[in-house]
Amino acid sequence: MRIVRTIEEARRAIEGSREGKRVGFVPTMGALHEGHISLIRAARESSDLVVLSIFVNPLQFAPSEDLERYPRNERNDLETAERERVEVVFLPAVEEMYPPGATVRVSAGALGEVLEGASRPGHFDGVATVVAKLFNIVRPDVAVFGQKDAQQVAVVRSLVRDLDMRIEIQVGPTVREPDGLALSSRNVYLSTGERVSALSLWRALQAASAHLAREDDPEAAAKEMWSLLTAEAGVEPDYAAAVDPDDMGPPRPGRPVLLAVAARVGSTRLIDNVLLEPNRKEADATDHDGRR
Ligand code: PAJ
Repeated sequence: MRIVRTIEEARRAIEGSREGKRVGFVPTMGALHEGHISLIRAARESSDLVVLSIFVNPLQFAPSEDLERYPRNERNDLETAERERVEVVFLPAVEEMYPPGATVRVSAGALGEVLEGASRPGHFDGVATVVAKLFNIVRPDVAVFGQKDAQQVAVVRSLVRDLDMRIEIQVGPTVREPDGLALSSRNVYLSTGERVSALSLWRALQAASAHLAREDDPEAAAKEMWSLLTAEAGVEPDYAAAVDPDDMGPPRPGRPVLLAVAARVGSTRLIDNVLLEPNRKEADATDHDGRR
């Protein structure tokens, strides 16, 4: 496994071993868990050379957010990468990615301003900028993202489409704890009591999925999620929405529906979602890609 910290080294390591191989890329902010590991394995399945990046991107954190206390565990992450037979790990410093004078940014546009973007202004411009940079450095054939961050998937798909990048975007299903809580690097912030309350996100999503299976009324399903979340002690919902997964706009007949929630549990902000296919029979999206 090659561990590289500069852009130049990353380019050399990847280009040096590319020789007609299909390059698969998994961008992360580290504190790797089974969710990240599932994406590494998906990349391994669909490519010959797996590149992992670990970079806590300051551009996607607002000044009030948890950049400073975001969990970092380089040693564990490198052990995980080694175990998963990742070929190249790119671990740049902030100054390497954003040297003084680097002022150009990529805008996610209107898609970056709703839901997560409304609560976290500038977040998706930060994501779009770092992902565009990482794509230019790694030059992957396929990049793998998690359905856990459904709006990020939509932003990255638009980035690739609107800036004419020849990169296939693959989406891996959300990996959950046995009780349903979506794995997240931020779950380590939760106290024992908060961990119990955090499950309300999954319960609200399940209730709304059942609602939609019974009655095709996305707005009523979203309202049900909102009231279930507000009823939970210690949980402060931010949004509970039923939207079209491509543009985060109102659901359209015959299209998949994305149920998405965000809530503060204590001081930790959590998000979760389920993607329902038009026939509403099964939850969670493993195969939303390939249709566009
Ligand atoms: P991070 O939060 O570290 O997530 C890296 C990737 O892992 C993302 O594609 C995310 O959707 C996926 N992921 C997180 N939890 C998951 C789970 N429980 N199951 C499956 N996949 C999961 O997302 C980011 O980093 C950053 O925004 C990044 C894309 C790296 C840009 O900075």
